Amino acid sequence: MMALVFGLLTATLLLFGSFVDAAPCADCFTQSRAAYYPNSDDKGTETGRCGFGAFGATINNGDVAAVSDLYRDGLGCGACYQVRCTNGKYCSDKGVNVVITDHGSSHDTDFIMSRRAFGRMAQNVDAGASLLALGVVDIEYRRVPCSYPNTNITIKIDESSSNPHYLAFVIWYQQGMEDITAVQLCERRRKGSQMQRKLNISYSKYNFAFYTQTQSYSCKLLDRSYGAVWTATSPPSGPLSVRMLLSDENGDEKWIVPVNDIPDNWKAGDIYDSGAQVIA
Ligand SMILES: *[C@@H]1O[C@H](CO)[C@@H](O)[C@H](O)[C@H]1NC(C)=O
Ligand SMILES: *[C@@H]1O[C@H](CO)[C@@H](O)[C@H](O)[C@H]1NC(C)=O
Repeated sequence: MMALVFGLLTATLLLFGSFVDAAPCADCFTQSRAAYYPNSDDKGTETGRCGFGAFGATINNGDVAAVSDLYRDGLGCGACYQVRCTNGKYCSDKGVNVVITDHGSSHDTDFIMSRRAFGRMAQNVDAGASLLALGVVDIEYRRVPCSYPNTNITIKIDESSSNPHYLAFVIWYQQGMEDITAVQLCERRRKGSQMQRKLNISYSKYNFAFYTQTQSYSCKLLDRSYGAVWTATSPPSGPLSVRMLLSDENGDEKWIVPVNDIPDNWKAGDIYDSGAQVIA
């Protein structure tokens, strides 16, 4: 389904290999600071500003974080970062990969991590306890793909939805390094059957099977309500295709067309497998 064009980037790097040092490098770590949720029971918060709900506390086994500037008005929701602390006495080289599910900052931090994620930056359990005792530590971070093995991009109908008047949903499990910068809601055109009949008439003598290929959709761009929540008032009544525009840091864009539609009898709380995923 989705194979993203990393080839182009690779080719560019090879071609201009000698200039790479001067260019801002995508793989480089950025220096910053991190704290952890003060009242956290190990995992993240269920009321994060991304609108993920309880899922926002437990996704990625609870290795989640709130970010300040990286929240980017909700664009940053669901992005993954490798975060490692820099104190050689306690910290591992690998650090931990966190998923962004919330917005917030304290003590000049870029990240407020779940307790679990914060402790996992350490070399071992004892070092983890020492890190937690420090409360705020120096870190470095970089964007990485998320890892959701055997999981497709998933649409969760928000509890605030009410069929047929108002549809709000959240997109889970997009594992690429791209942001979802726009979402279209598409319905199969009802006029399609008219069109099919016409084509059947004009082409039947040639035995063409055009009628199977005349699916046409009408789409409208949705508003990002906040975080990762997209909304539509008076959504179309048929089965709905939720298309997502992925944009990478170079400005390259690509629409993802899901394999599965949301059925017309969708209801609040339902979870739908899109059948599509980004190969990270
Ligand atoms: C078009 O023709 C095919 C084959 O004859 C038929 O099965 C199908 O029902 C027709 N479709 C429409 C919309 O009339
Ligand atoms: C993901 O989507 C593919 C293609 O639609 C499907 O075959 C597969 O079963 C889905 N995976 C899961 C874990 O649901």
